[in-house]
Amino acid sequence: MNIIELKNITYKYSVGTPFEAVAVDNVTLTVEKGEFCGIIGHTGSGKSTLIQHLNGLVKPTLGEVYIDGQNIWSKDTDIREIRFKAGLVFQYSEHQLFEESVYKDIAYGPKNMGLSEEETDKRVHYAAQSMGIGDELLERSPFDLSGGQKRRVALAGVIAMEPEILILDEPAAGLDPIGRESVLSRISDYHKKNGTTILLVSHSMEDIVKYAEKVLVMNKGKVFCHAPTDEVFARQDEIVGIGLDVPQITKVTMKLKEKGIDLGSDIYTVERAKERILQYKAKGSIC
Ligand SMILES: Nc1ncnc2c1ncn2[C@@H]1O[C@H](COP(=O)(O)OP(=O)(O)O)[C@@H](O)[C@H]1O
Ligand SMILES: [Mg+2]
Repeated sequence: MNIIELKNITYKYSVGTPFEAVAVDNVTLTVEKGEFCGIIGHTGSGKSTLIQHLNGLVKPTLGEVYIDGQNIWSKDTDIREIRFKAGLVFQYSEHQLFEESVYKDIAYGPKNMGLSEEETDKRVHYAAQSMGIGDELLERSPFDLSGGQKRRVALAGVIAMEPEILILDEPAAGLDPIGRESVLSRISDYHKKNGTTILLVSHSMEDIVKYAEKVLVMNKGKVFCHAPTDEVFARQDEIVGIGLDVPQITKVTMKLKEKGIDLGSDIYTVERAKERILQYKAKGSIC
């Protein structure tokens, strides 16, 4: 079942001014319930603008947005309901922390939804635990935490609303490698455990291939492709052609191919490279 359906979405900034710019250009896209979709593309390719359509934060200049089969801009739709269904975590989300304690910050969303104290409390603990925020941190000020912890608190605040779709704009940006891993692996575990549909924007190919089942490549406001990770990387020459980076291990195998050692064109993890190298060594080819 498609939980997200975009039909011919175009979005223009500053319409009717000299600064008019098409950020999203006639995008048609479906996302299945439970999919973990990684979104990549150059800066300015329209990733952030596109995902802001999914919870009604921006209204398309043209086209229709359906969430769970519901046209979100139809008269009968309560946009507040859509915002609870599709939780959006902005880039540098820690800037939105404002409460005096971590607990209150995580509780802000569920409270806003009108949930009882008891239900809110249950959700705060579950969301905090999912993001690796221990109980001992809940009464601390969010401003006393490390950068990575703050980011995870901000994520927990959205998770506590238990959205059916979790949309994350560069959730690991600006963190050190340990902080990145700590955020991304927790999102991945949360997805596996709860089956939530995840859309995760990242400029890191390495992160995308590690966690995403499907990849959406954006290029100049358009969908370049949206397919299972394997299929996308089978088109690595085209990916490089639009100026995007491929994982380091893919670059190594491309170089080897130039030198006559063809390990296949679908290698983007070290584990797969290892398998193919061993196969090649044993047989002299991968066929
Ligand atoms: N608030 C804005 N006003 C005008 N143009 C904008 C604004 N935000 C983004 N844009 C333009 O829209 C295009 C897409 O931007 P964006 O969605 O932020 O892409 P990405 O997230 O892939 O970097 C870019 O050309 C960008 O300059
Ligand atoms: Mg962006």
